[in-house]
Amino acid sequence: MPDPSFASVPDMLASLRPSYPVMCFWPERIAITARRFLNGFPGKVLYAVKCNPHAIVLKAMHDAGIRDFDTASLNEIALVNERFSDVSCYFNHPVKSRAAIDSAVRVYGVNDFVVDHPSELKKLIDIAGPGHIIQVRLRTPGGVATFDLSAKFGADEDAGVELLREVVARQSRPAVSFHVGSQCRKASAYGKAFEIVARVLDRAGVTPEYINVGGGFPVSDAEVKAPSLEEFFSQISESATRYGYLGKVPLLCEPGRGMVADAASLITQVHLRKDNQLYLNEGIYGSLSEIVYGDLRPPLQAIRLRGPLSDEMRPFTLFGPTCDSNDVVPHQFALPKDISEGDWIEVGGVGAYSNALQSSFNGFTTDTFVAIRGATPSALAL
Ligand SMILES: Cc1ncc(COP(=O)(O)O)c(C=O)c1O
Repeated sequence: MPDPSFASVPDMLASLRPSYPVMCFWPERIAITARRFLNGFPGKVLYAVKCNPHAIVLKAMHDAGIRDFDTASLNEIALVNERFSDVSCYFNHPVKSRAAIDSAVRVYGVNDFVVDHPSELKKLIDIAGPGHIIQVRLRTPGGVATFDLSAKFGADEDAGVELLREVVARQSRPAVSFHVGSQCRKASAYGKAFEIVARVLDRAGVTPEYINVGGGFPVSDAEVKAPSLEEFFSQISESATRYGYLGKVPLLCEPGRGMVADAASLITQVHLRKDNQLYLNEGIYGSLSEIVYGDLRPPLQAIRLRGPLSDEMRPFTLFGPTCDSNDVVPHQFALPKDISEGDWIEVGGVGAYSNALQSSFNGFTTDTFVAIRGATPSALAL
């Protein structure tokens, strides 16, 4: 059954009157951002499925012209392939099971992989055979992004040189990748990563099939405005030019957050008010965990259909639905002083790492997803 679509959030609320949380996507907004990447990034654009694998999101990406997907697991590879027949998946997790490699190659025809350790390289070639494109993921300096993605994965320069030589020695096709960290507000981080790439490639004496600059493109929240995507594209072009790669070595990127974060809102309902404490039907064990882990300050808007809300605001503490005392948003949010049971709160800018991360702790899960027509996410456009 196709996901229902509505003209606006109030239209959805008037129709469903939901006592359960609803995730609203703006597919046109996703398409606009995808086209910004396709037109502005100096290379091929993959979408990082892990960020939001919902069918509405994948369809919007495909409709906008995205044909390449960064996938972390066999499940994601299957999800994409069973939906579209004209796409390529890149298996860009540096640690894969033998069974997943086997099925990726033999069932789905995957040709691109990532490694960051000699044992993974051996495993990959033992199972997949030679001839595939193998990206060596390089570690980049931390401290520039909200989520450091080089603390767990990525080879240092010496190991990267050895791995690239070994890829060639094992009759496979070398490429390079890195990830500066998710929600990286400094474009210069990509410049620093290119310095590392250039040193490693020089020392290895290898010409790569491509350089994959990963994701990391940041988004604004209600308090901090992120630099524009175009600033990042310029930095990447400049760096690729400086080291003689532009026009010679293809570039790839694989954004998640930057593609979808601003294209969704979560609609949650107030189920109880105790003074300045609101008990909601969605929380940090659900689709709102990034408020804690990403220290996000999403824009909030209260909605009441039965009449107006006060213009006067006061700070509220927001509790999620589970019985765990930790299920509380760690900072307060300003909302109308007369907000009460039955009113809804729209939490904006939650397209990234929201429903993808939710648990069903205490039996609470957001399982209603709708599309909203138009390109501007409510009054919450950042
Ligand atoms: C290998 C890889 N590529 C791309 C992404 C997407 O990153 P972002 O959402 O910061 O754009 C991630 C995120 O974890 C990742 O691990």
